[in-house]
Amino acid sequence: MTNHIPWWQSGTIYQIYPRSFQDSNGDGVGDLPGIIQRLPYLQWLGVDALWLSPIYPSPMADFGYDVADYTNVDPLFGSLDDLDQLVRETHARGMRLILDLVPNHTSDEHPWFVQARATRENPYRDWYIWRDPAPDGGPPNNWLSHFGGPAWTLDPATGQYYLHLFDPKQPDLNWRNPEVRQAIYEVMRFWFARGVDGFRIDVIWMLIKHPELPDNPLDPDWTPAAKPQNRLQRIYDQHQPEVHEIIREMRCVADEFPERVLIGEIYLPIEQLVSYYGSKLDEVHLPYNFNLLKLKDWHASAVRDLVEHYERALPAGAWPNWVLGNHDQPRLATRVGQAAARLGQMLLLTLRGTPTIYYGDELGMENVPIPAEQIVDPQGIRAPGWGRDPERTPMQWDDSLGAGFTTGIPWLPLAADYARRNVALQREGNRSLLTLTRRLLELRRSHAALSVGRYSTCPTANQDVFAYLRSDGTTQLLVLLNFDSQPVSLDMSSHGAEGDILVSSLMDREGSLDLASLNLRPHEGLVVALR
Ligand code: NOJ
Repeated sequence: MTNHIPWWQSGTIYQIYPRSFQDSNGDGVGDLPGIIQRLPYLQWLGVDALWLSPIYPSPMADFGYDVADYTNVDPLFGSLDDLDQLVRETHARGMRLILDLVPNHTSDEHPWFVQARATRENPYRDWYIWRDPAPDGGPPNNWLSHFGGPAWTLDPATGQYYLHLFDPKQPDLNWRNPEVRQAIYEVMRFWFARGVDGFRIDVIWMLIKHPELPDNPLDPDWTPAAKPQNRLQRIYDQHQPEVHEIIREMRCVADEFPERVLIGEIYLPIEQLVSYYGSKLDEVHLPYNFNLLKLKDWHASAVRDLVEHYERALPAGAWPNWVLGNHDQPRLATRVGQAAARLGQMLLLTLRGTPTIYYGDELGMENVPIPAEQIVDPQGIRAPGWGRDPERTPMQWDDSLGAGFTTGIPWLPLAADYARRNVALQREGNRSLLTLTRRLLELRRSHAALSVGRYSTCPTANQDVFAYLRSDGTTQLLVLLNFDSQPVSLDMSSHGAEGDILVSSLMDREGSLDLASLNLRPHEGLVVALR
């Protein structure tokens, strides 16, 4: 055995969107007691850590990403006692619990902002970002909210605008103010002391803005097919050099407690993304890598180029990670189709690096079309067509009236296919995506080559196949992924005459394989143990 390997390197993270996982009291919204009820499922599945999107008291203008109290639980989700119980029971089952920290902004109903907007002289005024109107009375600069419209709202009582990179009900905190920093660090300590194992940190790359708040330039590459709010290049409202100092401070707070993890939400190109490990690996442990999730071109060569690019760009000693779905992006099965989604799951769970599975992706849940009158996401309301409700619909547990999610009326519509696509059915199905996911997680646990081993690309004669080796001192595993909808034949005999199939993504073959003339069916992937 080499050095101690932290859990967040060898393990797999599972993201729960609490509103949609399990409702325990029939109000149509998921809650903490519901998650506790489903812990046996998560343990059976074989994931190692649960990340919960925000559960704090909130007016829910952005479904919890507008926090009104950082150190409590919204009654909709339960109580602090429920959270303590969840921590205990998650730990008792050998898993970890990660919360969502939302430090860029609060709710406008947070007592800090209520104070800040009371008068210009209030001691909390400088906890947020205020500016006088432009000479014409309009906003102080041209910045746009990520949800659409200006990033500034006038507070008529005090005659100044406040900045909000998201909804007007989410005013941005002023991270240049040392009191703000200390307040959020205390929040981190509060949860760490209760046993929480880490944070996923919301929009960490936006925390600090250019001190002079200059106008952002127009993006020359923007086209009307893209979000209207992306027509400016975001060069002054995110990814500022000073952000790294803040993240180092956050890391010091995490390091006051043993084995805690910090994961940063960061949508940036690879070279910029990896700077968030810190020059001395002293920033976040895992800057979330969304490059696969955002990849437009789902083909073997594009995926291979991306994996190689990322592997090359990682600083020495930095641990990689991969994501294929989250609550802000269209579902994997909708982006690439069901057949390719199975292959995607094999890719996610066999690459080098910590994987994050978005709840329901283990079933192939798809985006659910939401009728206009049922749209609730603020982005969907402000930027029509760009809503995120479709990927946030209730977990599909069984074929009963509320899909096993609720006995009431679900807060978002259930998928039309829930009676055919659900946990109960897929648990029974030997070839289901759920069974495949569980098998891959079992392989990660039983093969260090997969969970923490080395990665190297294998050249193949076929452009539609992405092949790589995962290896440690004792085992060599060959992963072969056919991205095409046609069968392919391959000669991989440079790796030996025969290998042993540990799993096919189609879940219908195992046993020895002739490496000199092997066949992959459409969208088939194999994990093969080399002899
Ligand atoms: C990123 C979160 O993932 C998203 O859901 C939220 O709307 C914004 N940050 C604002 O907090």
